[in-house]
Parts: sequence; C-alpha cells; structure tokens
Amino acid sequence: MQEKGHPTGHPKGHPHGGGHGHHGAEGKHGAGPVEDISGGRKWLPKLIAWELTRSCNLDCIHCRAAARFGPYPNELTTEECLKFLDNVASFSKPIIIMTGGEPMLRDDIWELAKHGTKLGLRMVMAPCGFLVTEETVQKMKESGIQRVSFSIDGATAETHDNFRRVNGAFDSVMKAIENVKKAGMPFQINTTITNHNLKELPQILDLAIKLGAVAHHPFLLVPTGRGAQLKDQAIDPAEYEKTLTWFYEQREKVPLQFKPTCAPHYYRIFRQKEREKGITVTPETHGLDAMSKGCMGGQSFAFVSNTGKVQICGFLDVECGDIRKEPFSVIWDTSKVFQEMRAWDEYNGRCGYCEFRKVCGGCRARAFAYTKNYMDEEPFCTYQPGEAAKKARDEKKKGGPA
Ligand SMILES: C[S@@+](CC[C@H](N)C(=O)[O-])C[C@H]1O[C@@H](n2cnc3c(N)ncnc32)[C@H](O)[C@@H]1O
Ligand code: SF4
Ligand code: SF4
Repeated sequence: MQEKGHPTGHPKGHPHGGGHGHHGAEGKHGAGPVEDISGGRKWLPKLIAWELTRSCNLDCIHCRAAARFGPYPNELTTEECLKFLDNVASFSKPIIIMTGGEPMLRDDIWELAKHGTKLGLRMVMAPCGFLVTEETVQKMKESGIQRVSFSIDGATAETHDNFRRVNGAFDSVMKAIENVKKAGMPFQINTTITNHNLKELPQILDLAIKLGAVAHHPFLLVPTGRGAQLKDQAIDPAEYEKTLTWFYEQREKVPLQFKPTCAPHYYRIFRQKEREKGITVTPETHGLDAMSKGCMGGQSFAFVSNTGKVQICGFLDVECGDIRKEPFSVIWDTSKVFQEMRAWDEYNGRCGYCEFRKVCGGCRARAFAYTKNYMDEEPFCTYQPGEAAKKARDEKKKGGPA
C-alpha cells in the first residue's frame, strides 16, 4: 500500500480500491478501461454520502443528524443538485450514496438518480424502509439505482423499534427487503452497535444472511447528533477490541461481505491476526480487505449535507466548504480539513506514529466528540505503538531514513 496518494485512475493502487463500501449501500464499478478525468489529482473521491434531505420518518436514538420529520428550510434545490452531480462527474466517478434522513421524501429523487446514472456515477440509496414499495422499487430500477442499504439495529422488532423509536419500523424494513428482493435488487444491511444491541449482533448477522443481503456493515457508534446522548451506551475500548476480533473471525465464515465500518482499528486487528498466523496481507491474497483503510474521510470519502455543506464524513460535524459558494471539486482539493486528513503523520497522540496509521487512521469524528480536536488519537483504541514507531515517524518528518 502506498504511503501517500493514490495513483489516479487505477483502482488497485487505491487504498480503498474500487467498490469499497462505507456508510451506505455500495458495490463494484463495472470493469473495463476508464478514461482518466482526474486532472492529475493525487486524491479522488471514491464514495460520497449525500444527505438529500434531513427530513425523516424515523426518530432513531443514535441519529448523527438528529433528524426529525421536516420540512427543513433551505435544502438544496433540484438545480443545485444537478449541478453538484455534474461537477463531481467532471473529475471522478465515485459511488454516490443518496441518503438522509429519508432520501425518498424528495420529489425529485428519481430525476437526480437518473442524472447521476447518465453521468456514469454509481448511484445507490439508503432509505429507511417505509417508502420502499413494489412501485418505488420499479422507479429505483428505472433510474439506475444499483444497490440499497437498510438499517437493522436489533434482531427482533422490539429491539429495533426501541432503537428507531417508531413502532412498526422493523416490519417495514422486512417488507421493504421483500420488495427489493422480488425485483432482484441487491441490498445490504447496516447495523449501529451500542450496548443496546451488542449481544444481538450474531443474530443480526444471521438474519442478514437469511434475508439474502449481499453485505452486512456493522457501524460503531459515533457520539454525535442524538448519538451524543448515548456516550454511556458506547462499548468500552476493551469490549471494542473483543468485538472487532469477533468481526475478524467471522469474515471467512460468512457468505456475504462482512465489513466493519467506521471502526478503523479493525484494520489494525485484521493485520495483527493475520501476522500471528504468518500471513502477509496483500491485494492478491485478501482482495478488498487489503486495499481498504479504516477511516477514509477526506481521503476517498466525503459527505455533502442537505444544505450543501461539505464534511469529511457525516459524523464529523465540521464544515469544510459549501457547494453553494464554490464547486465541490475545489473544496475537495483545497479544504484545510481535507488536507489535514491526508497527513497521517501529523495526527496527535498514538495515531500520529502508530505502525498501523496508514491502514487505520483512527476515527477523527470520535476523537472530535471527546476532545473537540479531530486530529487527536482515537479514544477507543487500546493499542500502544512502540517507541521505535515514534522514532521512525519523527525521523521521517525530519526527512530521515524511515
Ligand atoms: C447513511 S446512514 C443511513 C441513513 C438512513 N437514514 C438510516 O439511518 O438507515 C448509514 C448508517 O449510519 C448509522 N448511523 C446514524 N447515526 C449514527 C451514529 N451517531 N453513530 C454510528 N452510526 C450511525 C445509521 O444507523 C445507518 O445504519
Ligand atoms: S493507535 Fe490510532 S492508528 Fe494505531 S491502531 Fe490505534 S487507532 Fe489506529
Ligand atoms: S472520521 Fe470516523 S466516522 Fe468519519 S469516516 Fe472516519 S472512521 Fe468513519
């Protein structure tokens, strides 16, 4: 894996590879020769989570957006949305996660999806469930949506509905899944893990498999938005370590892509465990797992809010620019926060010198939630990198041998 940058237009050289998933539903871009439109950029967005509206028909206890049923004022207009897609497609062809809130509450959702598809972007969607009917699944297909993600936060209706704070939420997701399955649309399951549902995780994974999901992405809580009130429900660092180790053990046993998300030090544990077995992690032996990186925020991932504010991800509520004032491409290239995200050696504390910083990076949003400094070390990691690692980093910064 490269230390810096990603040879553009070459998915294999990119730390996250083509088709690497993140906050929503994702999948693989089509194969075949790709025209280089990168303009020589070292860093390119591979995945953009786009909050099309913050309005939502659920009321989840952990919601980063603290979303409620709107309407919200000042959301991006259709014209602004089309312009944003044009700008993105002019320099990269990322996966666009149409998310919310409930993205399907927008009247122009199919027009936007169609436009993105026409531009060669891979359009995917993260709806809540209630609005996914046989008719709307047809519209998804017609507009080129390639995958949908659904959140399941409990193995039973009781746990899930308590988390999502709407009766019938679980049943609505089951119905939605039935509808997308009937239409042959691939879907993935996302689960946010807290002490509420940690014990149910094996059953939720089983459920995802039985339902026929192509992927299950467990998210680790980021205490932001309404989630800030759940700080005491976050699993502690030792439990976190055990859980990520359990994730590692599942990866070869399950018939779907099981990918811990926003749990950056999973990639440290993954490498440590393979090393214990004498195995070196390479793209040839481990595919996407070898090319994925823990935190991709600002490096190959970005978030755009319902009013056009750009962030490294939806969980780090720090504005990096505004697409109403300048094109996304300019913000992507020049934002101070985005630049900081790409300079791993400058991270504070252990994350700045850890041997695993290139594959992990620590969660910048969790650091921010605890210290108000997104450059600080990941508060939920128990790993203590060696002094030698620190020396190597310091020498490297001085231009020394490392
Ligand atoms: C793109 S969002 C999907 C949005 C969609 N409205 C939903 O909640 O299903 C992806 C995932 O982030 C999760 N999420 C939201 N707030 C979170 C938080 N504070 N910490 C961790 N995950 C969170 C959601 O539950 C969802 O599974
Ligand atoms: S110290 Fe930081 S970079 Fe190293 S494994 Fe832990 S979270 Fe990742
Ligand atoms: S800062 Fe944290 S929540 Fe945001 S992309 Fe990185 S790991 Fe995920």
